[in-house]
Amino acid sequence: MVESKSNDFMERIVSLCKRRGFVFQSSEIYGGINGFWDYGPLGAELKRNVKDAWWRVMTQRRDDVVGLEATIIMHPKIWEASGHTTTFADPMVDCLLTKKRFRADQIDPQSGVVYHFDGARDLRKWAPFMNKYSESMRESVTDHIKKYKTENDKGLTPGTADPDAAKNAAKLREIFDKEYHQEGGSDINVLAMGLANSEVAGRDAYSVLITPGKNPESARKVAQQFYQQRGVAEPQLLGERTEKVENSTRYNPENGSLLTEPRLFNLMFKTCVGPVENGETAYLRPETAQAIFAQFKNVAEVSRQKVPFGICQIGKAFRNEINPRNFTFRSREFEQMELEFFIRPDEAVEAICGSVARPAGPGHPGEPQANWGWQMWHKYWVEERLAFYESIGLPRATLVEYWQKPEELAHYARATVDILYKFPFSKRDAAGELAGEELEGIAARSDFDLSQHQRFSGKAMGVFDEELKEAWATLDESKKAALSECYFESRRNYLVKTNEPAAKAEAQAREEAAGLARGSYVPHVIEPSAGVDRLALALICNAYGEDTAPDEKGKMETRIVMRFHPRIAPVKAAVFPLLKNKPELVKKAREVRDLLRPHLTVYYDEAGAIGRRYRRQDEAGTPFGVTIDFDTLGEQGAELKDTVTLRERDSMKQSRVKIEALPALLLDRIR
Ligand code: GAP
Repeated sequence: MVESKSNDFMERIVSLCKRRGFVFQSSEIYGGINGFWDYGPLGAELKRNVKDAWWRVMTQRRDDVVGLEATIIMHPKIWEASGHTTTFADPMVDCLLTKKRFRADQIDPQSGVVYHFDGARDLRKWAPFMNKYSESMRESVTDHIKKYKTENDKGLTPGTADPDAAKNAAKLREIFDKEYHQEGGSDINVLAMGLANSEVAGRDAYSVLITPGKNPESARKVAQQFYQQRGVAEPQLLGERTEKVENSTRYNPENGSLLTEPRLFNLMFKTCVGPVENGETAYLRPETAQAIFAQFKNVAEVSRQKVPFGICQIGKAFRNEINPRNFTFRSREFEQMELEFFIRPDEAVEAICGSVARPAGPGHPGEPQANWGWQMWHKYWVEERLAFYESIGLPRATLVEYWQKPEELAHYARATVDILYKFPFSKRDAAGELAGEELEGIAARSDFDLSQHQRFSGKAMGVFDEELKEAWATLDESKKAALSECYFESRRNYLVKTNEPAAKAEAQAREEAAGLARGSYVPHVIEPSAGVDRLALALICNAYGEDTAPDEKGKMETRIVMRFHPRIAPVKAAVFPLLKNKPELVKKAREVRDLLRPHLTVYYDEAGAIGRRYRRQDEAGTPFGVTIDFDTLGEQGAELKDTVTLRERDSMKQSRVKIEALPALLLDRIR
């Protein structure tokens, strides 16, 4: 059950993934590289099955979606148009003590007492000046020297020398010579220089947060470490004072140290195109979507698709994440599966159909209809995507449909639904339930993307819609005016937001609104955007189970079983000869393997006791085991000849099946 899965559970998952070859740390032999992961033999099959399932559902089984495979490096202007160059950034902070980097918006708020320090004096440098004085005198002598230095500096500052301060300094010097000077001790000016020198390295102010229950001494220890790192060998903390704080995100949750001020960090990986070191700057794509927009006109033309239709793509994306974490969940290199589904603006739908259908209630809205506006299409894709996740084995109870709040939406988005999976490392809500982490976002992005590429490339991204042109001609004048005004408003809003001068935005929006009559508009888009790696991780977490099964001697033992849905299981069937030293069994088993192999992924295993072989396949998540035994050879009677034992992974149920019936039976179960 999802609820019982904890972070200790996550450790078991990570360990199984390495042991069984689902996921390895990238470049492991060199100590790994943070945020990068490799998929081993089972992981590679799992990912391929996930992508194949998505591709089949999103394009191969539809008339209205076509595929694209674009390059990872594209013209840098694409990222200017999309806004990534300027706004694809996360706020970053560093721990002033450990230098560990955090995303500022991911720091948990903390309350407690903050210990502030003005700086630190290096006792290793200062103590030799004080060795003429008793312990009890050192503090007052140091204070006196400090006061003298402050006044003396003010009295001597060229240009702004303060004669009163000079007088004070002279007085303090007199007092020092009378009351504090020691036989063989230094002159007050030498001491003042020594004091200044011992405070040079520790001039920075610093703070440490202590949460309730923690010893305040630990704040001082942390502060001393901080000053030691800055070259203060033996820090004596200066100017300590405390302050109560509530829900502060300014301190490192791991050690209480003050963090740097947040600064924005662009997540795109930069590279250089061309054979010279400082050739043209380009970027590794941070999402696959933009290539779809950039190729929209080409694809629409060659595929002879008419709006509404979609273009989908699966491919690598790269983000220089500040804090890669939770195993593969937040990586720096990952794969996306994205669909851009282009639709008519609502004004065009209304012109053609007389009205725009809107969602009537919860649930799937059914087969697409001509009168659907963006809300119906958005709802449709949310429901389709949820159905997809269920079809590959993620129970509905493990998924959350999260509607972004208006203040969370990008300025151009009309609605965004995130589909979350209740990962074991998810935060918990007020009721203690796993809140879930994002698997996919389904955004209604208006006509922002194509409009941006139209603006930046100077190439028209609009379409001609014959149906609209014909319908428009039949509308009465008041309807035409109302729809034009609506379209004009939304185009003008877009243009103003992109900083076009008001008059220019108005004129251009008028011209575009007039285009409706000619059947022309820039399509709007609904974007379901999913991550392959996050989905693979969700499937692994969901599949993991531990139960008991009998060993060879019938004794119950704990088994790890990966209950993948047969549709995405890395290996569909394992074929075992009962004994490997019986050539007739081995020959027959290889025949069965070769019979199945053209249809499904088969693993042949003849090594070890049959129970152990079953257990290995349970861990790999293989849903079916096929055992060839002496009955198969007809030794127990002709009626069992050419039958095999079919074992089901989850129930461990065994049944007798004719070899010739196996391909159809298994295909039926894995499709
Ligand atoms: N084109 C829209 C877009 O890229 P996104 O929410 O930034 O939207 C879409 O990314 C999906 O890509 C996410 O829901 C997630 O599954 C996946 N994804 C994003 N960043 C990721 C990362 N650092 N590691 C793994 N997957 C990531």
